[in-house]
Amino acid sequence: MPQDALTGWDDETTAEAYASFARTYPMYSASSRDLAARARLAESRTVVDLCGGTGATAEAILALAPPRAEVVSLDNAPAMQRIGRRTLSDPRLSWVTARAEELAEHASAGGVDAVVCNSAIWKTDVPAVFGAVRRVLRPGGRFVFNIGGGFAGVTHPDAQARSVSPTLGSLIEQIAAREYGTPPASVSGTRRLPLTAVRRYLTAAGLTLIEADVTAQHTTMAERRAWLSIPVFARPEHGFSYDQQMAILRKAYAQTRPDDVTVTSWLVVVAQLNGVQG
Ligand SMILES: C[S@@+](CC[C@H](N)C(=O)[O-])C[C@H]1O[C@@H](n2cnc3c(N)ncnc32)[C@H](O)[C@@H]1O
Repeated sequence: MPQDALTGWDDETTAEAYASFARTYPMYSASSRDLAARARLAESRTVVDLCGGTGATAEAILALAPPRAEVVSLDNAPAMQRIGRRTLSDPRLSWVTARAEELAEHASAGGVDAVVCNSAIWKTDVPAVFGAVRRVLRPGGRFVFNIGGGFAGVTHPDAQARSVSPTLGSLIEQIAAREYGTPPASVSGTRRLPLTAVRRYLTAAGLTLIEADVTAQHTTMAERRAWLSIPVFARPEHGFSYDQQMAILRKAYAQTRPDDVTVTSWLVVVAQLNGVQG
């Protein structure tokens, strides 16, 4: 399992920083609303929020699910879920602390209308998770998730158009290289998840790809700085203390304007278990 699935997330400081970011800025609520809408929840009875963290995605699901639906938010980081349990109270919502790969042990076989997974799937053992999702979905049930553009290898045209001005991430890399001799970061091969691999894993699990869209998220430099201040996302990823990471971030941010807009790309995937129901 990738490292940050076990460490990093189950930490009070990270969980509080993440929840505060998700409440203050639109990044996770907007992407969660998009995925929940694609899951077609109007008639749903049971919905799983996979890798649900502090509950931003569960909130979007609850807004679209019927009054008698059951929503299960599953995540393996108790620190993240403690915040969700404290801040999100809805009788339809329950919390399960478990690995996504173990989903089939926590939901009835063939009894789930939709599984929604925001900003997390590439952190999991993807073939194992797809297999587990296949076991719990009902025929016609939907599996909706997104993959960060860097991991999926996609760039939205808006991001290409704006690539003339440097991103905070690239400024951080430049400063780390200049002042500490750090080599440029790259997405490691084990965490890459392009559409070709998604399609192959879905087919192997018995699921059908029905939509794959590249979307763009427009964020201000101020929002990117807040996101890069969440300990689990702070950069450079390896070999620096959090204080050093924040010192580099301050220098990088000083070279930008707070309201400058930066574009991040996502690959959004909708899959379905083929069957008689729609
Ligand atoms: C970026 S957060 C997303 C949380 C939520 N979906 C949202 O949009 O706010 C990623 C979450 O994935 C969880 N996670 C990562 N790998 C996991 C795994 N293998 N099983 C369960 N949860 C996992 C982490 O604990 C973390 O809470």
